[in-house]
Amino acid sequence: MAADPATRAVTQALAARTGTDPGDWFLVFKARYGMAVVFRAVREGRGPGEVVTQIFTCSTAVDPILAAGLTPRHADVSPDTVSIDPDRLVLTDAARAVVVQHTFGIVDDERAARVAAAARGVGALVVEDSAHCVGRLARDASGPVADVSIHSFGVEKVLPTHFGGAVWLNPAADAGLRGRMADELAGLPVVGARLDLLARAYRAEVGVLNRLPGAVSGPARRALTALRAFEPAVAPAEGRGRLPYRAMRPSPWMAQTMAAALPRLDEVEQGRGALVAEYQRLLGDAVQVPAGARPGDPLVRWPFFAPDGPTARRVLHALDAAGIYAGSWYRPALFPGVEDPQRYGYRPGDPALATSEDLVERVVNLPTGGDVAEARRAAEVVLRVVAGAPRT
Ligand SMILES: Cc1ncc(COP(=O)(O)O)c(C=O)c1O
Repeated sequence: MAADPATRAVTQALAARTGTDPGDWFLVFKARYGMAVVFRAVREGRGPGEVVTQIFTCSTAVDPILAAGLTPRHADVSPDTVSIDPDRLVLTDAARAVVVQHTFGIVDDERAARVAAAARGVGALVVEDSAHCVGRLARDASGPVADVSIHSFGVEKVLPTHFGGAVWLNPAADAGLRGRMADELAGLPVVGARLDLLARAYRAEVGVLNRLPGAVSGPARRALTALRAFEPAVAPAEGRGRLPYRAMRPSPWMAQTMAAALPRLDEVEQGRGALVAEYQRLLGDAVQVPAGARPGDPLVRWPFFAPDGPTARRVLHALDAAGIYAGSWYRPALFPGVEDPQRYGYRPGDPALATSEDLVERVVNLPTGGDVAEARRAAEVVLRVVAGAPRT
């Protein structure tokens, strides 16, 4: 079936940004459903086994592994990238895939290539998670390092689209697996009228919910979700190891929204990069920042680590009181938290994940989508709290 003009515009724009072929890009309703197709193909093509990923992530990035009948196994991350640390990665031949996540949009080509090489060493598929950096791929001298790359147009990602995802299939990847994934992605059904309507209503609904007092907003959001009158960023089932829908393609309206946003991606990235540079200038010496986050990088949020968990929470409180929306992405681990971590392959307190757990405890992330004045105000609040924090 020939792609509609909006889908063609999106795949062409993504291909142009990445120096790839538009025919290797496929659109999905949310990135997590692209991952679901990929992991299901891995399970069917390579049999049961593990997908190596990280706990410093969203539950929706692990649900597709469980939904495919594979077993998540978590590797510890590097504090420089908040992504799997190649220096400490140990893989066995139970690994069917390894996820290289560009957390917050930090793309470390060299480390990503080393994780990819380790994955290939045990015959595992290299799945790049570029959910936080749509249109960016890790590369080495010979080109993109991943076999598959997952991109998000979802809620609180780089572009203000709220819905949509894209999957890039490397033409050099294992032909059997690649063919399986391409066939399935090309044949996905389009989302139905209800989800299309909810996607169109999303911005207005969130606007109203965010204006309600905190004590009302959460219950109202949950009630609307239960009534299937609101499509949340993370559904209740997505904290219980399940995805609520089958994999689907975006509606024409969603694809048009994605197509309309992509021409502004350079501008959006420049704006985010400017705020990252400003945060780095104002706070880089006062707090711990992942070394892989360079000033000017177009990060989806600017992450830093407070000296300890209580200080991180005080910073978030103070920012909230100052009317600045800061994130606690990824505290708790498998954000925003899951009912049964063991089901997700995570045993809290596991010494093998000590770095990840320490970073989860101390993380704060600041918005990069606003203006410089707001960033300066946020930095002042952070400095005030951190300067007053007891030394540990
Ligand atoms: C690291 C990571 N991967 C994947 C996803 C899934 O993206 P989407 O919301 O488009 O399904 C998210 C979303 O929260 C994420 O943070």
